[in-house]
Amino acid sequence: MASLGSFLTQAFPPSPQFTEKDIPSQVGKVFLVTGGNSGIGYEVVKILYSKGGTVYMAGRNPGKINAAIEAIKSTHTASPGRIKSLILDLGDLSTIPSCVADFLAQETRLDVLWNNGGIAQVPAGSVSAQGHEAQIGTNCLGPFLLTQLLLPVLLRTAKSVPTAGVRVVWVSSGVIDLKAPPGGLLLDELAPGHHSQDKMHNYSVSKAGDWLLASELDKRVRKHGIVSVALSPGQLKAKGFDRLPWHQRWLMKPLLHEPIMGAYTELWAGLSPEVTCADGGRFALPWGRWHPSPRKDILESLKAKTEGGTGVAAEFWHWCEEQSKGYVGLGN
Ligand SMILES: NC(=O)c1ccc[n+]([C@@H]2O[C@H](COP(=O)([O-])OP(=O)(O)OC[C@H]3O[C@@H](n4cnc5c(N)ncnc54)[C@H](OP(=O)(O)O)[C@@H]3O)[C@@H](O)[C@H]2O)c1
Repeated sequence: MASLGSFLTQAFPPSPQFTEKDIPSQVGKVFLVTGGNSGIGYEVVKILYSKGGTVYMAGRNPGKINAAIEAIKSTHTASPGRIKSLILDLGDLSTIPSCVADFLAQETRLDVLWNNGGIAQVPAGSVSAQGHEAQIGTNCLGPFLLTQLLLPVLLRTAKSVPTAGVRVVWVSSGVIDLKAPPGGLLLDELAPGHHSQDKMHNYSVSKAGDWLLASELDKRVRKHGIVSVALSPGQLKAKGFDRLPWHQRWLMKPLLHEPIMGAYTELWAGLSPEVTCADGGRFALPWGRWHPSPRKDILESLKAKTEGGTGVAAEFWHWCEEQSKGYVGLGN
């Protein structure tokens, strides 16, 4: 299913072509990065702040967020930027409307939303606050609801900036090439009682889900000049790997890069002028380039049945709408 070439090009990417040196001043722009207090998200926030942007670091642990904000501010004391905290638990839909309300009470624009925060390799049987498989809940449903609630401000912002200035970046994973089931995601498994007991499978499905959501969002927002894309940030030193069995960690260690490299992938997707609305729904690879050979079965999932595809992405989008509809309209 997955080609050796696909694995190799992600494990040994070419040098990044879009780094902090290529990012102009971001003064006046507003960004939101979920999971910004550690790993890749932390590096994204740091660079955006160093360029003068207003950055919202959204996460579940106020102590960790405040410590991360202080650490970043202390390394860029001359920046005209601002970093602010937002509290949400992506694994608990009930916390998301108040987070969005908090953001909207402070800002009238949002240039780029990075749906970066997520979990990996949690024990089989773990569930979100609403009883969904934990990784589907945290990596897909939470970001879906957050994006839905932020859509009005994204649309308003898009009216006043150049086309493709407003973007939503969905952080997926290269693991989907190797481990996601046919079509990326099996809709029957989403129901309580039907969750797989294979944690790697569940992680891969949730990350394929991110790509499906990026593509479905693109179908809704491209006409408004908004870009929605998914990406694999790369194989990076981060907390998720601590949960792998020791022999897998030992094998993977030489292949792991510093988190800032993953930030380059995310910043390319979110800010590079190379990325246009015509790229909406595509899948980017480390350190900022398009996947040369995405899995055909997942491309079929992205296509509507009326276009000859399987329509899995559309069905997953509707499932997410159903699961989160009780939380739309709260807190705004
Ligand atoms: N590292 C890699 O090699 C790799 C590869 C492929 C994809 N990714 C993806 O890249 C993204 C960033 O991961 P990372 O490597 O930087 O890992 P990380 O250091 O573990 O960062 C994950 C971030 O997400 C936050 N988060 C987790 N669960 C959350 C929840 N329920 N609500 C709000 N925030 C939550 C974490 O907050 P806490 O600090 O409170 O836990 C943390 O800030 C993830 O989506 C991951 O799946 C990473």
